[in-house]
Amino acid sequence: FYSNKVFVTCSIVSYSVVLVINNQIVGVGSGSTIVYAVDRLGKFYILLCVFLCKQCARQLILKHGLSLSDLDRHPELDVAIDGADEVDASLTLIKGGGGCLTQEKIVAGCAKHFVVIADYRKDSKALGQQTIARRFGGEAVLRMAVSKAGPVVTDNSNFILDWKFEHAQNWKEVNTAIKMIPGVVETGLFVGMAERVYFGMEDGSV
Ligand code: A5P
Repeated sequence: FYSNKVFVTCSIVSYSVVLVINNQIVGVGSGSTIVYAVDRLGKFYILLCVFLCKQCARQLILKHGLSLSDLDRHPELDVAIDGADEVDASLTLIKGGGGCLTQEKIVAGCAKHFVVIADYRKDSKALGQQTIARRFGGEAVLRMAVSKAGPVVTDNSNFILDWKFEHAQNWKEVNTAIKMIPGVVETGLFVGMAERVYFGMEDGSV
């Protein structure tokens, strides 16, 4: 698992000869995979980074010697890089497994290019079934915290409902329909946003 992440981030640095160059404004996501990407980017580039999740990415950027910025100062990003929980064949993503999704979607939407890095287990034929069903079963379930009492609170101080779908859906319609429900702030469905997705495979290839 470790080497999948290293290989996938090596690949993004190779590809980044065209995608990332010095002094660009780069959005950095959250999760465990992005840690390896930031480590590599910090070794090879001088970048100004906007963090996609205030809970975790800020410290990560500073730790790897990259400069920190925000959307007030830099509302247009050259590229945003993030992980995902599931990716289908049309590059629609489910994100938010780590509780950050609203900030991630806002920042990804401000980037000229949005690139995703993930290991092979995120390659999903039937979006919405893999992770949610494995974790919860049932339908819409309030996500509870593991290490403290009460529900998980997101980067925007909201609760999360994990929703299991029995069949593949028109994800654009699902996204719009859920967002029309009063009180819903954001969904973890990223439809039509990702330009490329890199999967680190079990044998170490990408
Ligand atoms: C954070 O809430 C998520 O959107 C993460 O980006 C996503 O869950 C991927 O995380 P891992 O790289 O840890 O799998």
